[in-house]
Amino acid sequence: MKTIVTMPGDGIGKTVLPEAVKVLTAAGFVAEYIHADIGWDFWCNEGNALPQRTIDLLKEHKIGLFGAITSKPKDAAEKELDPSLQNKGYVYFSPIVSLRQLFNLDICIRPCKSFKGNPLNFIRRKDNDFEEPPVNAVIFRQNTEGLYAGVEWTNPPKAVRDAFETHPKMKAFKNIPSEDLAISSRIVSRNACRRIIREAFEYATKFGYTNVTICEKPNVLRETSGMMFKEGKIIAKEYPGIQLWDTNIDAQMMWLTKNPEIYGVIVAENMFGDIISDGFAGLVGGLGFACSANIGSEVSIFEPTHGSAPKYQELNPPIVNPIAMILSACMMLDHIGENEKAENIRNAIAKVVEEGKVKTYDMLKLKGGPDVFRQGAASTYQLTDEIIRNL
Ligand code: NAI
Ligand code: MG
Repeated sequence: MKTIVTMPGDGIGKTVLPEAVKVLTAAGFVAEYIHADIGWDFWCNEGNALPQRTIDLLKEHKIGLFGAITSKPKDAAEKELDPSLQNKGYVYFSPIVSLRQLFNLDICIRPCKSFKGNPLNFIRRKDNDFEEPPVNAVIFRQNTEGLYAGVEWTNPPKAVRDAFETHPKMKAFKNIPSEDLAISSRIVSRNACRRIIREAFEYATKFGYTNVTICEKPNVLRETSGMMFKEGKIIAKEYPGIQLWDTNIDAQMMWLTKNPEIYGVIVAENMFGDIISDGFAGLVGGLGFACSANIGSEVSIFEPTHGSAPKYQELNPPIVNPIAMILSACMMLDHIGENEKAENIRNAIAKVVEEGKVKTYDMLKLKGGPDVFRQGAASTYQLTDEIIRNL
């Protein structure tokens, strides 16, 4: 029997994760679920949002389901620390970012597929009518490097400045004092490029996508985007049945509303992947529908893209949409070879969305709050139950 490490975290993470487990069970997936501590309470009480015992559980069992966490800026975080822990050098780090780095979860997969009948789907004007292009794009975001690798300075130390000065383009900044300089670096390694591009082609092969797009900006970012693009061309030769396309990130954002339906699998560096996956998610229902997987070579963690939505965490019954979390659980099933159960759940969701009888507040385009039930919205639990009924 599989063991799944469940990390509900904070806020609505605690609401939606148990809903996903209900659906997994109803779909016939038999597993042992082990709860693991993560998030704000553990920061406040222990000075560590990601306790070692949670890391150990993930090391042992390899598969994690994650809800969401609450992050706050450094100063605010320190104020909420238990008084006995204050001024002892504890520093808050986002536990999900730490997990990605710690377990080298370098491949982030974000499928953005529209469900027929979803009132939040993107529509496009056509003559005097409109059309609803079916979107089915899967973003492969490099999750550990690039502009988010964190190698940056304000007032760079002399050694760093000297190293930068060896580049001819630094002449433009020659007269700026270091204290007025902020530098962020975009670091890309060949092996990480190869890993994510290969995974993207494998995914395209497995799930029948006919094109893989490298979404970068090699005309300007000639080195980092250039490396991604070059590796893409080499690996693509091994997959003759799949076309290799390339787009620039800026143009891709414009094409989002022009022809989103033509894209299959899209590969991008960390920040570009972050941008383009939010862009596509917006076409297929937004945060209530946006699921993701963080895949490493040993450990993998599945989570909705949304955060802890603190303003809704106290509402009882809860109002938030559990579909993003349930779809993330489906990605977990796919990852461990339970594709049929995953497909059954996705089909049940598709049926519920298309029938349109049970909708959470976001699907009705309502402003969130306790009033939404009077305006016809279903609760989180009612939507889960409806999905289970359709399994
Ligand atoms: P958020 O994703 O928590 O919520 C933004 C808004 O999106 C909500 O107010 C709500 O209107 C809507 N929303 C989110 N999830 C929804 C769902 N399942 N159903 C329906 N509507 C939904 O982002 P926000 O407000 O910027 O951040 C709140 C906290 O979450 C912060 O502390 C932030 O640091 C953290 N966060 C954590 C993430 C993670 O755990 N991976 C990701 C993003 C934010
Ligand atoms: Mg984002």
